[in-house]
Formats: sequence, structure tokens, C-alpha cells
Amino acid sequence: MVKEEGRVYIFDTTLRDGEQSPGISLNAREKLEIAEQLARLGVDVIEAGFPITSQGDFEAVKSIAERVKGPVITGLARCVDKDIDRAWEALQGAERPRIHVFISTSDIHIERKLRKTREEVLEMAVAAVKRAKGYCDDVEFSPEDATRTDFDYLVGVVKLAIESGATTINIPDTVGYATPDEFGKLIADLKTAVPELNDVILSVHCHNDLGLAVANSLSAIASGATQVECAVNGLGERAGNAALEEIVMILDTRAATIGRRTNIRTEEISRTSKLVMTLTGYAVQRNKAIVGANAFAHSSGIHTDGILKERLTYEIIDPKSIGLEQGAVILGKTSGRHAFRAHLAEMGFTLTEEELERAFDRFKVLADKKAEIADADLEAIVADEVRTATDIYSLEYIKTASSTDSTPMATVRLKKNGTLFEETTEGDGQVDAVCKAIGRLTGVDAKLVRYDVSAITGSLDAQGDVTVELEIDGRVFIGRGVSTDIIEASARAYLNAVNKALSR
Ligand code: KIV
Ligand code: ZN
Repeated sequence: MVKEEGRVYIFDTTLRDGEQSPGISLNAREKLEIAEQLARLGVDVIEAGFPITSQGDFEAVKSIAERVKGPVITGLARCVDKDIDRAWEALQGAERPRIHVFISTSDIHIERKLRKTREEVLEMAVAAVKRAKGYCDDVEFSPEDATRTDFDYLVGVVKLAIESGATTINIPDTVGYATPDEFGKLIADLKTAVPELNDVILSVHCHNDLGLAVANSLSAIASGATQVECAVNGLGERAGNAALEEIVMILDTRAATIGRRTNIRTEEISRTSKLVMTLTGYAVQRNKAIVGANAFAHSSGIHTDGILKERLTYEIIDPKSIGLEQGAVILGKTSGRHAFRAHLAEMGFTLTEEELERAFDRFKVLADKKAEIADADLEAIVADEVRTATDIYSLEYIKTASSTDSTPMATVRLKKNGTLFEETTEGDGQVDAVCKAIGRLTGVDAKLVRYDVSAITGSLDAQGDVTVELEIDGRVFIGRGVSTDIIEASARAYLNAVNKALSR
């Protein structure tokens, strides 16, 4: 990658570090949809996964590498031959491939986790960068737990990695321990001690354990970092990674002060955030900066009065600049297949013919129940179809009955490989009865640990959006489903989580 003066390169790790968040388990189709949206958003690098970890992740990285054009596509590998070989196998079809190798460099990780010596780690790092370089020109090296690594040793590792061919050096605050002053100083000191860093991309990767991931990334930018690793909605291990939308909007809103720019199309931020929320099942808190539901909501009388007189009194970001307040009502009952297809294409969705047909059928059913269909409704339907595209079981039919003086009952019909299966069950409520029937039909014994319901748009005929978290064989799976009928949305969400468990 050629370094442009004043640029901060955005490296998105939603599909790798983000996917490591507990309960998130994206299939290859979902990952591809998110990657395509990340390309539309204009990120510079997409970390598509960690190919050695599973066949599913390998397939996902491979399909993203082959189909998503524009950004650099990278995959993670430990400093071991089989990881690097597998990463290259997945990445070789990319227009602009990068192999990202990492190894721990702090004493606590070297001694307790790797059970090696500093010298052995150094040798592994050098060998890994050289092996990756044998496959592709663009190689990133990360000394994991860099912020707790002995400085002189870190300097040695970084120098050798560059000498061996690394074109990006990434400094991770793996456990989110650094403060902004310390982290900024570490980057500045490294630049002084290793002048060769001026010839490569200097990246940072901050975790949010102390709520400082974005502040630490900004401090590193002020010290000369040229790439920031971040994730949409701040997803990632434990408390997550630096939130992409926050970094981008800080650099955009405070451009006059900071003087560094990204190539992000900010109007795509809201849509990207929603797509990631709906496909991962991880909602963001209402008061989350930039993409939370309240980020542009004003309730106190004084603020509302101010906003009505002059938006800038209480709003530092125009909601339109992140893609909000666009396309309220767009399609209705009379819209045909052609208009539907064209509108989805305009929204940036790339569906297969089969997915498009199923989404259109759902749209028609919805249009019979709901007078005005908003972009948010379409996004929900399409995401639901993408989510379920590779499901083992599909929901064909539900019938429920309940009254104040009878036991709730549900009949559920599922389809698997063209064959229909049906079950009628009692439950404590209609949702419980439906979930029990799905459990019996699929043979999956699950414990419901979370059940959330919200409305997609603000009207009484709005679609219900249900998220469930199921514990199955000691692992958590998140499922999501939408419908104007809450019971059906619940069934879809429950079945989505069960399908994820089955495909694992
Ligand atoms: O947090 C971390 O150190 C990582 C590395 C693999 C970059 O995710
Ligand atoms: Zn990380």
C-alpha cells in the first residue's frame, strides 16, 4: 500500500476480532454481505477472518477474497507454517491480498501462554514474516500484548520483522491496559527507536477494557500512526475494539484540529452499523456515540427549542452525514418485483435470485399488513433472508392458540431437505410452546438465556424484531427474527439460533 500524506487507513476487523465476541457466529453468506457493505463504506482493509480456525472461516475468507473488490483483504495467522499456508490458500484469489501474522511478545504471554523463550519467539516471528512474504508482498506483523512488552525487546522484534519483509507493523493494546498518554508515547518512542517505521504502515489495534480504545487510537494517530484497526459498533473480544464509526466521525468532525483524513463514505455508517447489528444479533446501547438510537435525539425543552431554531446549537454532527433521515417511505402494496429489485440494488444489497424471490414474497406479505414500507423494513427482511440462506431447517407454518382459561398450544411445521416435519406442543405461553415444538422437531435441547423484542419502525403495524440467546451444549448462540407477528418473529429467532448450533 502506498502511503498518502495525511491519510489514516481504516483496517476493519469486525469479521475477525468482532466475530470473536461471545455468541456471534456468522456464516459465510452473512460475512460476505457485511464485507460487501464494508467495501461500500470505503474501508481500506477488511480482516475477513482467521482461516485456520475452522472450515467455515476458511470458506468465508476465501469467498470474500474472491468477490469483494477495492479494499485489501487480509486473514490472520499465528507464526506457524500451517496457519500461514492456510491463510494464503484462502486469500490468494484476492485482488489485493495481505497476510497478517502475530505472536505474543510480553513476558507473561511468552512464558505462561507460549511456554517459550524470547529468542524462540523472535525466531518464529522472523520465519513467519519470511514465509508469508514468499506468498505475497503485503505482510502485516503484530507483536501481541505489545503494551505490556519490554520496550527494548519490542524494538528488536519490530526491527527484525521489517527487515524480514513486513510492510505493516501493528502495535496492539491486546488487553486494553494502556492510557492515552502512555500509548501515544509508546508510538512516538517506537518511531524514534526504529526509523524504518517511516517506510512502512504503522498501525494500532486497541481494546476497550478500560473504555479507552478510541482515545488510545487517537493518541497514537497524533504520534504518527497511519493505520487504525477498529470494528463496527466497537465489537471484539471482551469489551471490544475501538469503534470504527467513532474514530471516523472524530477525524471528520474535528478535521480542522486533527488534520488527518480517512477515505470513509460517512453516509454509509448508519446502514453498516444496522447490518452488523442485525446479522450478529448484538444491538448497541441507546446512548452509544454516533449509532445509538439516542445519538441525535433531543428531549429536554431547552435543547429541543435550540435545535428548532438552529441545529448547530446542540448538534455537532448532521445526522444526514452518517446516512440517517433518508428514504422514509419507499415501497408499498402495488410495487412490483422490478421496483423491489431496483430499490434493493440502490440500497447496496447483492442477493442471489433465490434470496431475492424469497425476500420479495416476504415483502408482499408485509405490504398486505403494513401500509408504508420503510428502508428499515426492507433491511430487516433482507437481513433475515441472508441470515437464513444456509439454514438446515426453515420455518414453513405456525399456528398458536391461547386464552385466559386454556393451556397455550402451538403447531409448528419445519422443512429440512425438502421434507416437512410437524409437531404440536403445549407451553407456558405461545412463545414457549413454539420454542418447545422447534426443540422437539430439531432434537436440539436449548436453554433460553435472553429474549428481547423491539419494533423496527415506530407505528402500531411495525415489524417486531426478536433476538434470543440460547445456551446449547455449553455454548451461546444468538438468533434473530422479524415479522409483524411477535410469535412468528420469536419462532424465526429461536430457529435461527438452533440452525447456527446445528451448522457448528
Ligand atoms: O488484540 C490483539 O492483540 C489481536 C492481534 C491478533 C492483532 O487481536
Ligand atoms: Zn484484538
